[in-house]
Amino acid sequence: MKLVFIGDVVGSPGRAVLKEYLKKIKQKYAADAVIVNGENAAGGKGMTKKVYHELLEAGADMLTMGNHTWDKKELFDFIDEADRLVRPANFPEGVPGTGIRYMKAGRKKLAVINLQGRTFLPAIDCPFQKADRLIEEASEQTSHIFVDFHAEATSEKLAMGWYLDGRVSAVTGTHTHVPTADERVLPGGTAYITDAGMTGPYNGILGMDKNIVIERFLTSLPARFEVENGDVQLNGFAVTINAEGTAESIKRIRITPDDPFFD
Ligand SMILES: [Fe+2]
Ligand SMILES: [Fe+2]
Repeated sequence: MKLVFIGDVVGSPGRAVLKEYLKKIKQKYAADAVIVNGENAAGGKGMTKKVYHELLEAGADMLTMGNHTWDKKELFDFIDEADRLVRPANFPEGVPGTGIRYMKAGRKKLAVINLQGRTFLPAIDCPFQKADRLIEEASEQTSHIFVDFHAEATSEKLAMGWYLDGRVSAVTGTHTHVPTADERVLPGGTAYITDAGMTGPYNGILGMDKNIVIERFLTSLPARFEVENGDVQLNGFAVTINAEGTAESIKRIRITPDDPFFD
């Protein structure tokens, strides 16, 4: 099984680069399925119904979310019918939506799990214990399990990678929007990267207008962030998983204005 993952798509510039390249990437890596983090896809924060369908049309087969899940209130109205979207599974019991979904990838079944860290992020249920329970559930149906762990601290993401090594096919970090160069297959057979990076404006700060962010650092005054304009980048990775659910390789994907993809 070959999977492609694309990191946090930011606003309309992120959606535009996704639309332009995702199908080409899917073809290049012969991907059976594409998973896209969409927590920033609508105006830089959250998800709307229109954007949900737009991302699926662009070639995403499953969307993961994060701390911005609830920023667009309309998601509450359609999340339970959005069978191609998972939100962090360790939100408290009773919250709308689900943190695990199953899909077809090639001829096999794939479980996609979304979890959120607790270091420098709001206090929610334990992602490690939640992972245990969901993996137990998923393992009854498939040996192919993909985890998007949306977290701030590199240590928490590494801890999750090692904790799940040998129990899932892949663990990717998201949320920090800057790709890390530590992609590898861990000894137990789990593909891992601390952060997949983001997909959106190249010359901003994490996809946002840099002047507003700098001003906030200078003044400590509250400011409303806006999505940056101009050149775009796309970040993610491709992973190959064998029939037993063990990862064989992980390769970073990065498209920037300097990349031949832009010719
Ligand atoms: Fe994000
Ligand atoms: Fe985030």
